Amino acid sequence: MITGKYPTLRLRRSRKYDWSRKLVQENNLSSSDLIYPIFLIEGKNRKQSIKSMPGIYRYSIDQLGIIINNVIKNKIPMVALFPSTPNKKKDKIGTEALNEDNLVCRAIRFIKKRFKNNIGVMSDVALDPYTSHGHDGLLKKNYVMNDETIDVLIKQALIQAQMGCDVIAPSDMMDGRVGKIRKFLDKNKYHDVQILSYAVKFASNFYGPFRDAVGSKKSLKSDKKNYQMNFSNSDESLREVALDIKEGADMVMVKPGLPYLDVIQKIKDNFKIPVLAYQVSGEYSLIKNGIKNKIINEDCIVESLMSFKRAGASAIVSYFALDISKKLKF
Ligand code: PBG
Repeated sequence: MITGKYPTLRLRRSRKYDWSRKLVQENNLSSSDLIYPIFLIEGKNRKQSIKSMPGIYRYSIDQLGIIINNVIKNKIPMVALFPSTPNKKKDKIGTEALNEDNLVCRAIRFIKKRFKNNIGVMSDVALDPYTSHGHDGLLKKNYVMNDETIDVLIKQALIQAQMGCDVIAPSDMMDGRVGKIRKFLDKNKYHDVQILSYAVKFASNFYGPFRDAVGSKKSLKSDKKNYQMNFSNSDESLREVALDIKEGADMVMVKPGLPYLDVIQKIKDNFKIPVLAYQVSGEYSLIKNGIKNKIINEDCIVESLMSFKRAGASAIVSYFALDISKKLKF
């Protein structure tokens, strides 16, 4: 691999000037690599701050026009929508998930009507925004049931597709859901709707601020270890991805991001499928608070995002997306 040796070979030569550093730069970050997550709330004219996520807000649907305009202007290709469901609309079986007038469905319709295909819309398929216990599926004796949950998820996926959602993102780590969702969408003639599988989602401690943002923190009593992956595992992620590819996933996601760069790289090395990274809420708030308190500087944002590109990610879901896209060239 290494040709030549010191003192004839000096790797610092190419690092001396900005122009030459640029010439040999191996990876780039642009707005087109980013996906911007948006939290939704009921009501009108609302922009509500989230205590655990400084700089991030919950928006009512009538505020989306301004934000999506901004997202498009800054050349971000897609947004991901996350509803904060009022407690009174939550129940044990997540009935609200199948209401085609629920918050996320109305938001999809609004965006697609107003912005057509100038922006991609992605939406999670899972029950946790709608269940009173905060779990992603139906419970029996405190265990999340797999197959019974999938029967609901396929309906939730179809409704979101009917609303105009471009990318359906099953995010609950149930076995077999990608195949069942693909089949049901195809049967109903939604073959062009993409599936982004959260194929490798770890039972992580970095989701705390997100659960606060969507209001599932208080309701969730236990953890999600019996369906999300053990963070000590790496090979298992290859099995997860292999299964989801067979079932028809168009893209796969690794989540969280920074603590799992090894997993992103491993998947990229083993499969030729777009791998997306999710820089989750806990990662966001850590960096954001570090900047706010002047412990680290703002350039840490690009450095963290570039690490995903280096690892092989095609795109990154990040709460920094909108702010940082304003500083990127394209
Ligand atoms: C739930 C979901 C979670 C996130 C996205 N979808 C949290 C969870 O599994 O409890 C986390 C995202 C983040 O922390 O930013 N289906």
